[in-house]
This record gives sequence, C-alpha cells and structure tokens, in this order.
Amino acid sequence: MKLTIIGTGYVGLVTGTCFAEVGHHVICVDNDAAKVKVLQAGGIPIYEPGLEELVKKNVAAGRLRFTASTADGVQNSDVVFIAVPTPPQSDGSVDLSYIEKVAREIAAAMTSYKIVVDKSTVPVKTGEKVTETIKRYCAAKVEFDVISNPEFLREGFAVGDLMKPDRVVIGVGSQRPVAAMQEIYTPFNAPIIITDINSAELIKHAANSFLALKISYINAIATICEAAGANVQEVAQGIGLDERIGRRFLNAGLGFGGSCFPKDLSAFIKISEQVGYDFKLLKEVQRINADQMERFVKKITDTLWVLKDKTLGVLGLAFKQNTDDVRSSPAIDLCHRLLKDGATLRVHDPKAMEKARAILPGVTYVDDMNAVAEGCDALVIATEWDEFKQLDLARAKKGLTHPILFDGRNLFDPAEMEKLDWIYKSVGR
Ligand code: UDX
Repeated sequence: MKLTIIGTGYVGLVTGTCFAEVGHHVICVDNDAAKVKVLQAGGIPIYEPGLEELVKKNVAAGRLRFTASTADGVQNSDVVFIAVPTPPQSDGSVDLSYIEKVAREIAAAMTSYKIVVDKSTVPVKTGEKVTETIKRYCAAKVEFDVISNPEFLREGFAVGDLMKPDRVVIGVGSQRPVAAMQEIYTPFNAPIIITDINSAELIKHAANSFLALKISYINAIATICEAAGANVQEVAQGIGLDERIGRRFLNAGLGFGGSCFPKDLSAFIKISEQVGYDFKLLKEVQRINADQMERFVKKITDTLWVLKDKTLGVLGLAFKQNTDDVRSSPAIDLCHRLLKDGATLRVHDPKAMEKARAILPGVTYVDDMNAVAEGCDALVIATEWDEFKQLDLARAKKGLTHPILFDGRNLFDPAEMEKLDWIYKSVGR
C-alpha cells in the first residue's frame, strides 16, 4: 500500500520504516526542512537500535523516501498517518496545535478519498475534532475517514515493538477503512482489535497509566521493603510469576520519566476531570513517583551529609536505557537536584550526552564510563543501561575518595558489593 507518515520523531520515523520493511511504499514528511535534508542524506536524527540499517535498506529498495511537503505525501498515498508531537501544557492538558495544523494541511492537499490515521497520543474525542477540521478545510470536498491507531512502542525497543506488536488497535467510525488497515497490518502477524474511535483513544491512555501505576506500585513496595528489611526484587519475582500480574514493569528505582508516562498521566487525569471523574488513583501514582526521587536524594544526603564542595559521578542521563532521549528524564532531574545542593558533577551516558548538554550545563561530561569516578566522593547510577553492570569496580574504587555507590536502578548485587567493601545503597533492598 502507499502510505504517508507526517512527523519523523521516534514514533513516525520508526513506524514509517517498519511499514516499508514489510513491503509498503512509504513517504515520511516533516516540516523541519533541515531534518528532512539529514534523512535524505542518509543520516538518522535520533538514536534507536536497529533503525539506521532498516532506513538504509528500505531507501535503497525504493520503498522509503523523505519530503518536507505534506501535499507530496498526501497526494501520493492512500493512507496518511499523523505522528506529530502532543506536548504537555502547564495545566496538565495536551497541546493539540500540531495535530490541528497538520489536519488543515492534509485537508488542503486532499484531491481524492483518503484514510487519515491518528497515531499521536491524543485525548479522547480528538478524532471527532480532526474530522470536523478536515471537513472544514478540504476545498476539494472529497470523502475521507479519520481513524485512531494508537502506538504502543517503547523507545529503545521501538523497531522490535513495531515489527512484533502484542496487538494492533484500530478505532473506526465506519467500515470503509477497515480492509485497508487490515492489509497494512497483516504482515505483522498480531491480533487486530477493531473498536470505535473514542475507545481506541482511551486504550492508549489506559495502557500507559496502568504501566505507570505498576511502576509506582513496586516503588511503594520498595519503600516498605526498606523499612521491613525485605528485598523488592525478590518480592517482584514472587508476585510477577503470577501470570495475572506479570514480572515486567516491576523494577523499582528512581521512578518513571520520558516523553510519554508523565505527560499521559497528567492528560488522563485532566480528561477524566473533564468527563466528571476525579482519578485519585492516578494522582497517587504521580505522587509516589515524585516521592521516589526525594527519597533517593535523601539517601545521598543522609550518607554524604553536605553536598556543597563534594564531587559526584553520575552514570546515566537518558530517561531509560537504549535511547538518547532526555525528555523528562529522572536522571537529569536528579542532576539538577544535586547541583542545586551545591555538588559538582562528572556525568556519563552511552548515548545521551549530546542531547543532555543543552539542558544540563555546568557539569563535566566524561566519555569513558570507567573514568567518571576519578576524584569523586561517590558514584550514582541514574539510568538502567546494561553496560553499567560491566563498570570496572576496582578502577572506580581507586578513583573515588571513598567507595560509595548509590544505585538508583538496582544494577548490582548488594551482597557482592558488601564483599567488595563498598558502601552500597540501592532501592528497596
Ligand atoms: C512508554 C510505553 O511503554 C509505550 O507502550 C508507549 O507507547 C510510550 O510510553 P517509553 O516512554 O518509551 O514507552 O518507555 P518505557 O520503557 O515504558 O519506560 C518509561 C519509564 O519507566 C522509564 O523512565 C523507565 O526507566 C521507567 N521504568 C520502566 C521503571 O522505572 N521501572 C520499570 O519496571 C519499567
């Protein structure tokens, strides 16, 4: 099928590339001409494992191309996906101005029937607004269907999540676009759930807030474990093997961040309020998440007492492993907190240092993770990168004034660390 994806961010670029990989002809549109030039020259503006190879392969095969023109994309495809940002606003609601603008641009460019698919995470009833907008701005007065097809990919695992989705959700207002959507997704061999548009939009919010709830739940359990002398990882294993609960998303730590969970939770609370429901449960999820950071900072200050004039080495800046994304990163929040208390920071991240520089000035960026500890009073792990498990502990110990490690992601074994004579503080153990 001929597809266009508008927006080449984490969702749009990976979605377009994976659609091309299964044989569709895909045009990726972005209004940022500089970004389009980078993509046309074979560059990838984001880090996502496996993406670069797939983009190259599909561009070479003639199934994937990039343009800055929405009209080019719309007029040369049957289905147009909207994958533009929906950033949070100060009151917790979502800024839908990019969606509205793209809807107008699609409407202006349409000269024949199109299926317009909303892939961005949007509040329930956005589909109705997009339909109204296209109707109003479509000079050619052609027929169209607006549908909702929420994306569940995780950054850092986006290619895998897209190629092997757990499920595909398609929210429609009529039967007409269903066959085309099934044709697009059949190669992915996943269950396809057809719903109404409002339900599809709610599924995304309900899924993300449930996962955030799971993380806050285990973080609350971690607090109890610390007080009771239990081990949160053993508790997670013990409950996670119950298939009804599941072990995934039960990793205690510094709490959740990223461009989705914090924003989607606030938006869902706001949407619920608008339809007359006070979602106190989700407000508590947010509170536990904020507390988690405070409790971790307290752990550091309880041990080091005064941070002023102390140097800390921080491993991890991305909001999670396998990504260069630092948006709403707990690791960056932690750095800001430590700087505010007067600490000097030496920091390292395998992929996110370039993006971090813009929002985290006044720290020393260290290229080699094993060199971070040099001259520091303590080390802190803030992101769950697998490579941090390979940290040269002997070298770190030599570099530190005292062998102190605050592990915000539970990467090391407390018993082993004790044997190696480290003062080791983790979460819930
Ligand atoms: C999330 C959803 O998982 C995905 O389905 C949706 O499409 C977009 O939002 P993403 O933001 O990429 O994906 O990251 P995710 O892997 O869900 O992690 C979010 C945050 O939770 C990270 O900060 C991570 O460190 C934290 N986390 C995750 C935990 O603290 N513990 C866990 O057990 C899992």
